[in-house]
This record gives sequence, structure tokens and C-alpha cells, in this order.
Amino acid sequence: MNNDPVRDVEEIRSAFRRRLDEVAGVPALIQEVRHEFLGRSRGRLTALLKTLKDLPPAQRGALGAAANQLRTEIEDGLASALQSAGGPAGATGRAIDTTLPGTSFPIGTAHPLTLVRLAIEEIFLGMGYTVEDGPEVESDHFNFTALNIPADHPARDMQDTLYLEGGGLLRTHTSPVQIRTMLKTRPPLKIICPGRAYRRDAPDATHSPVFNQVEALAVGHGISLADLKGTLHEMARRLFGPRVRVRLIPSYFPFVEPGAQFDVSCFVCDGDGCRTCKRSGWIEMGGAGMVHPAVLEGVGYDSEEWTGFAFGCGIDRIAMVKYDISDIRLLYENDVRFLEQFRGAGA
Ligand code: FA5
Repeated sequence: MNNDPVRDVEEIRSAFRRRLDEVAGVPALIQEVRHEFLGRSRGRLTALLKTLKDLPPAQRGALGAAANQLRTEIEDGLASALQSAGGPAGATGRAIDTTLPGTSFPIGTAHPLTLVRLAIEEIFLGMGYTVEDGPEVESDHFNFTALNIPADHPARDMQDTLYLEGGGLLRTHTSPVQIRTMLKTRPPLKIICPGRAYRRDAPDATHSPVFNQVEALAVGHGISLADLKGTLHEMARRLFGPRVRVRLIPSYFPFVEPGAQFDVSCFVCDGDGCRTCKRSGWIEMGGAGMVHPAVLEGVGYDSEEWTGFAFGCGIDRIAMVKYDISDIRLLYENDVRFLEQFRGAGA
């Protein structure tokens, strides 16, 4: 810099014009010239403006006016250079080949568990059910006692429970939502509740300590086992295809009477026996039954007037048979190569 700051302004002006000529037509280089002269830390004009405060007041006014005038000139010069280069700020300066394929931005895919949950929700919303939610950290009361499983009942051992410090537990099934919903709703009612459940099960190909269930509950006048079977059949038909059959095998759950395990005929081999159904022709889906009168009475429903059915099945297991997934752990590892295979898959 000179001792005469106004001469400095002139030098910067000439340098700017020279540089602008050199970079004419190349937007990226024009942007570089902007940094060279107006850049906040290294710009030549910016540096000059920073010296203003150290000048005697008499010189300060003249230089300030000259420098600001130059700033306007530089900005105008850059804008018109960019315009004649035909490129927007930040462009590379190369001509754009509009025939090249565009840049693709990868978007995620719905997880197979989400696909199955959404499909089940759609089936039941279409039958007039509502979707309910409940807490995953539950009390002993809702997870067991209100479901007719008192403290010393051996049925508590059917589900290995994860207890939390300071009380509470991770719900072992979605059935507590039945109780929570009945306590806040007068019958008749029809609900499903999809959600996570937790058990102290050692992980293997078909067991995960965290898994997903969907619970269904219908309470009304004259609801019977036939309604339960018809509903299960409709769900299975919509999930696996029109040919599948459903069977109920007597089983025990303290909160239903009678209770059953429900299976669907194998949609791969049509019941003949194959790898998917482990040669049995049937695929186990979950538990079901007529709501136990003690459960109805416990939430203040008159069990002489109201009857209901309930069932609960594993969403993971449905996803596994539907998409031929051999190991449940694949559903929780979030390996993108696995998940990408479900792009565009419907349930
Ligand atoms: C129950 O949990 C009952 N609450 C179901 C029920 C609801 C019966 C309403 C009657 C009326 P169960 O313990 O059988 O039942 O579990 C139901 C389903 O959850 C199983 O068929 C299975 O698909 C799934 N499941 C259970 N444990 C695991 C696990 N560790 N990993 C993956 N899925 C599991």
C-alpha cells in the first residue's frame, strides 16, 4: 500500500479491471475475483476499508467516499460480467449438457415391519376398527393382573419379563392396551393396537428380545367365536392371498376363554408342506380367544351383556413368512443392502 490512500483506490480499480478482463466468460473465475477484491478476510478493497479508522479525520471522508464508490463499481462490474458469462453465481463455467441423466438423491424405503403394520392397519380400518396406542413401559397391573394373571399365577412364566429398576416392566405383549382402552371407552368397541413388545428371550432365528405384535379387540352384543374366526380369515386372506385358510387350535391364555392358537394354511405350498411352513402345511400366527368374563368385569363391563374376542400376533413373524426372511435378526440390524430389497414392495 502507498502512503496516499486515494492512490491505493486507483490501483485497486485498475487491478480489478485487469482481472475482470482475464476471467471474462467464466463464472467460477469471476467469483474468485469477487473474493480477491471484496472477500471478508482477504479482499483488497476490504483491507483498505479496514484502514479507514486509523486515518486522520480530514483524510477519512475523502477516502471513504472513493472506496465506497469503487465497491459499487466492483459489484456492478462483477454482476454484468456474470450476466454476460451466462452463468449463475457458483456455476462451474462449463456448459450444461441437458441430455445427461440428473443426479439421483437416494431416498429410504419403508421397513418390512412398517409395510406389514400399515397393511394390517388398512385391513382393520376398513372393517371399522380404530388404531390405539399404549405405553411400552408398563405396570405389573396392566401387563398381568388386569389380564387375569395374578401375582403367583404360573402363567407369568409363559413370558419371560424384563423388569425395570424402581418398578415397572417392559410390556411382554400388546394385550395391556385392551385394558387401557376398555377403561376409557364404553362398549361396543373395535380396536387394534400395533406396537413393540419385549421379552427376556435369547435371540435366535425366530426370537428377538424386542419384537412387534398387533393386538385386536372387539366387544359388543352377541360377539362370538365365529366372528373371531371370520375376522382372522379376512386378515389372513388380505395379507397372504385369497386361498389361505385359518385354523384354531385350543390353547391357554388366562385372559381368554376359550383360548386358541391360530394358524394360517401355508400360502406358498397351499398346505402341501414346504420350507416356509416347515413341511407342516400351516404357519403359526398368534394367540386368540373370547375375552374372559373376569377381564370384562375388571374394567366394569357387564359380562352378561357384553362379549368380545381378542387376538395378538407377531408382526415380525408375519413379515418373515410373507417376505421369506430366514432370520428375525435381519429385521433389526438395519443393513441397507437388506432393507433396499423392499423398495416398492407392498404388503
Ligand atoms: C401373546 O403374547 C398373547 N398376548 C396373544 C393373545 C392376545 C392371546 C389376545 C389371546 C388373546 P404369545 O406369547 O403366543 O401370545 O405371543 C404372540 C406372538 O408374538 C407369537 O405367536 C409370536 O409371533 C410373537 N412372539 C412372541 N415372542 C416373540 C419373540 N421373542 N420374538 C418374535 N416374536 C415373538
